[in-house]
Amino acid sequence: METEQVIDQEREEREAFAGVLRFYELAKRQEWQVRDLPWGELPPIPEGKGSDVRKARRRDMWRSVLTQQLQADMLACEMASQLLNIAPDPEAKLYYSTMVQDESRHTEAWLKLIHEAGGMAERDPYLDSLAHMTLDADTLEEKVFLMQVFYERLIIPRFRMIARSSRGTVLEDLCNRLAIDDGIHHGAGMAYERVLLEGAGRSVHMTLVDAANRLLPLFAKHALWRPKAREFIGALMRETDIRMLKEDLENGVRLAKSLGVDVSGIELPY
Ligand SMILES: [Fe+2]
Ligand SMILES: [Fe+2]
Repeated sequence: METEQVIDQEREEREAFAGVLRFYELAKRQEWQVRDLPWGELPPIPEGKGSDVRKARRRDMWRSVLTQQLQADMLACEMASQLLNIAPDPEAKLYYSTMVQDESRHTEAWLKLIHEAGGMAERDPYLDSLAHMTLDADTLEEKVFLMQVFYERLIIPRFRMIARSSRGTVLEDLCNRLAIDDGIHHGAGMAYERVLLEGAGRSVHMTLVDAANRLLPLFAKHALWRPKAREFIGALMRETDIRMLKEDLENGVRLAKSLGVDVSGIELPY
C-alpha cells in the first residue's frame, strides 16, 4: 500500500512536467540553422537613401541595434547554460539543452550579421546588470521567473518592431525567427515555473515579488537607453517607447499573476 502511494505520487509529479516536455518537442521541431537565412540574397540591414553622411548615420544606428541584440543573446547563452546546469529535473534539463543551442545559434547569427553591417557599436550597460541580476539570483524559481517569465516575454514585441522597420533584409528574417524562438523559451519557462511553484510557500512568492521589483526599474532603463548613434531617434521615439514599455510591464505583471503570485506588492516604474 505504502509503496503504491509513493509510486502514484512519483507518477503525478512526472505528469506535471508534460508542459515542459511539450516545449522540448516543439523546440526540436522549430530548430533552424544560420545558413538558412537569406545571406547574399537580401541586404543585411536597410540600406537607406540620401547623402553619404545620412546613409552612414543610418548604418551606425542599425549597427547599434544589432550590437544590443548580440549582447542580449551572448548573455542569454550564459543564463541558459546556468539553468541547464542547476535545474534538478531531467525534463527541464532536456528542454534547457535546446535553449542553450538556440541562444548559441542566435549569437552566431548576430555575429555574422554585425560583421556584414560594418562591426560592433556601444554596449548597453543596463543589459549587463539585468543579466547579472539573473545569474546571481539565489534560487531557481527566481532565475526562471526573471529570465523566462519576464525578460524573454518582454523582448518579443521589440523583435517585431525591428522586423517591421527592416523589411526585405536578413535582419527582418532573423528577428522573425527570434520572436518564435523566444516565444518557446517564454512558454517553457512558464510551464516550468508553474511546476516549481506548486506547493511553494509564501516566502518563495515574496522573493519573486522582490525580484520583480528589482528587475522592472532596470528593464525600464534598458528599454529607454539610447547610445550616441541612436540619440537623435531616441528623442523622437521617447513617447512611443514609454507607451510600449508600460504595456510590456503590465503584461509581465499579468503573467506573474497567472502563476498565482500575489502581485499587489509589485511596483511599476511607470
Ligand atoms: Fe536568443
Ligand atoms: Fe531566448
